[in-house]
Amino acid sequence: MYIEFKNITKKFGKTEVLRDVNFSLEKGDIAGFQGRNGSGKTVLFKLLTGLLKPSGGEILIDNSPLGNDFLQNCGMIIETPGFIPHYSGYKNLKILDSVSPVQSGKEEIKRLMDMFELKSGNLAVSKYSLGMRQKLGIIQALLGNPEILILDEPINSLDTKTSEFVIRKLIEINAERQTTILIASHIGEDLAKICTRRFSLSDNTLIENG
Ligand SMILES: Nc1ncnc2c1ncn2[C@@H]1O[C@H](COP(=O)(O)OP(=O)(O)OP(=O)(O)O)[C@@H](O)[C@H]1O
Ligand SMILES: [Mg+2]
Repeated sequence: MYIEFKNITKKFGKTEVLRDVNFSLEKGDIAGFQGRNGSGKTVLFKLLTGLLKPSGGEILIDNSPLGNDFLQNCGMIIETPGFIPHYSGYKNLKILDSVSPVQSGKEEIKRLMDMFELKSGNLAVSKYSLGMRQKLGIIQALLGNPEILILDEPINSLDTKTSEFVIRKLIEINAERQTTILIASHIGEDLAKICTRRFSLSDNTLIENG
């Protein structure tokens, strides 16, 4: 899927968060968005998914305006994904899968849990470590085999070893399925390891770093 932001502006009341943001991504790009807390990373992702509407400009998906639609064929972690705490990770995924427009099915859920080494049996999500919960969030985003994966700070709270593991898996998924991946982080080093395109948000504007 080809994604294009054309002169996107977002204001909340009089407060401008994004001004004249322009970028485009090709299928299979891994794009990193870096910026300080409050720089507008989450807002940018919400605009792409259709959860927020721009104040000006246009978002094009395969050259068609997103308009009032929600982005199709996308998986996302935006802020903390909600899980039912007293159910296991597997059961949570099964429930989320059952309500998704495209079902992955039990075998694929198990394959993804294996892939992310999340073999927790019947352990309730409330007893998961933060790292396990982050992995579960990423698996949730992968349900339905999305063409676009939107990950808002997926590795910031992980230790070096786990974040490197998750990064390797994301690279595998990108290679396997040509999934377009957008990742936000306030840590530039995380993004450098994985991204083929790197963007920075500051002073309400987006620039691409060489
Ligand atoms: N629904 C909203 N109404 C009003 N202001 C909002 C709304 N959503 C976001 N903002 C404001 O937009 C700015 C950018 O917020 P955003 O959440 O995109 O930052 P961020 O870059 O994701 O930060 P962080 O690294 O802390 O996640 C902030 O000043 C925030 O207060
Ligand atoms: Mg954010």
